[in-house]
Amino acid sequence: MTEPTHKRGLWATRMGFIMAASGSAVGLGNVWKFPYITGQNGGGAFVLVYLICIAVVGLPIMLSEFTLGRKTNLNPVGAFRQLKPGTPWVGIGFTGVLAGFLILSFYGVVGGWTLAYVYKALTHSLDQFANPADAGKFFGGFIANTGEVLFYHALFMGVTIAIVIKGVHAGIEKACDILMPTLVVMLVILMIRALTLDGAMEGLKFYLYPDFSKLSGHSILMAMGQAFFSLSLGMGAMITYGSYLPAKENLTSATLYVVLFDTLIALLMGLVIFPAVFAMGLKPTEGPGLVFSVLPAVFTGMPMGWVVSIIFFVLLAIAALTSAISLLEVVVAYFIDQRGWDRKKAVLTMGLIIFAIGIPSGLSFGVLADFKLFGRHFFDSVDNLTANYLLPIGGMLTAIFVGWVWGTKEAHKEIERHETTFHWAAYWEFVVRYIAPVAVAIVFFAKYFPAK
Ligand code: TRP
Repeated sequence: MTEPTHKRGLWATRMGFIMAASGSAVGLGNVWKFPYITGQNGGGAFVLVYLICIAVVGLPIMLSEFTLGRKTNLNPVGAFRQLKPGTPWVGIGFTGVLAGFLILSFYGVVGGWTLAYVYKALTHSLDQFANPADAGKFFGGFIANTGEVLFYHALFMGVTIAIVIKGVHAGIEKACDILMPTLVVMLVILMIRALTLDGAMEGLKFYLYPDFSKLSGHSILMAMGQAFFSLSLGMGAMITYGSYLPAKENLTSATLYVVLFDTLIALLMGLVIFPAVFAMGLKPTEGPGLVFSVLPAVFTGMPMGWVVSIIFFVLLAIAALTSAISLLEVVVAYFIDQRGWDRKKAVLTMGLIIFAIGIPSGLSFGVLADFKLFGRHFFDSVDNLTANYLLPIGGMLTAIFVGWVWGTKEAHKEIERHETTFHWAAYWEFVVRYIAPVAVAIVFFAKYFPAK
């Protein structure tokens, strides 16, 4: 192996990169957010739109981001600046850094919930609910408790900061290697349990049978936003991860692998949650508390439920951490590359500011529940602004940039830089140039035509 010419950390192995990129993608978006927004948006039809968005928007944009990153070896701001200096395209990079900032602010809150649930699982609080409604009440009480929420939020951000200070592969790669396969095994066990509950079929039907009358324009926007959020796209996280790649990397197979893996985890999670929700007589429209209310009820009635609850929440906390790391890394890479800060200063300063901005999100289910911006509490506002607007817009502009400005020809050259043949080049070039940008634009307009 030749030495890299730049000082950036490089992934130790090819698998390490794929694992780390999957670690960024697989997180609370798959396990916590996907089930609850699927539940709120009517089930099957939403899932179908989500899958279409993954294939025609997510997949091409992920490859575009990896390519931009490996070509430039830079953070998102630096990447756009290097390829088209002195043009407004660098704005995509800035929007990305801002989005990373905002997403991590509320992501850290939910990450804190998972840490709290690790503790609660260990102390036998999650495997003794007489009925599922009690599990929901328990969760509601917890997220309204200011002190507890703040404590775990701070803990989660502290761990994220500690890992990111150590730099790219030391921290990130190792964690992901073990986590990902274990998570799949756990989900399969839980899925079998959920599917064998009485009344599970009702849930399967809700989840898999597309009823398009339940789909509004806004649901379509949310499905697309979720595709971006779950794949970590639209704000340069994958540009940043791609920038740590050695040239000898097959970007196309890495893209396929990460997309398939991320989608598999989300779909499996749906197969756990919806059969359980219906079997236990809960409502799928529960909202952000859905997973935290349903799973403890599942653990309660399950053989070895205590052990399973511990393993599950430990895995979820690690999955959340590996995603949070990638969010912080984007912000930090910008301050290191573009502003010349050292890593420690960048991580500590930004980590603390992001924690502070997250506090109102953390209190949105308790003391700040009545504090509304445009009809949403703080947590929902930041979530909605980032997932449904900043990410799709960033992704659309990235597609236009790669498809038309930098050009698919140049991108193609970069993808094939080291003797790999790009088998689906024709599909990719077509979707990046035409389908992805247009699809995002249509979805934005669809929002103004609510179905009924
Ligand atoms: N994809 C992660 C999840 O599903 C969250 C995440 C990490 C993210 N990095 C991101 C979302 C960058 C958008 C952009 O939990």
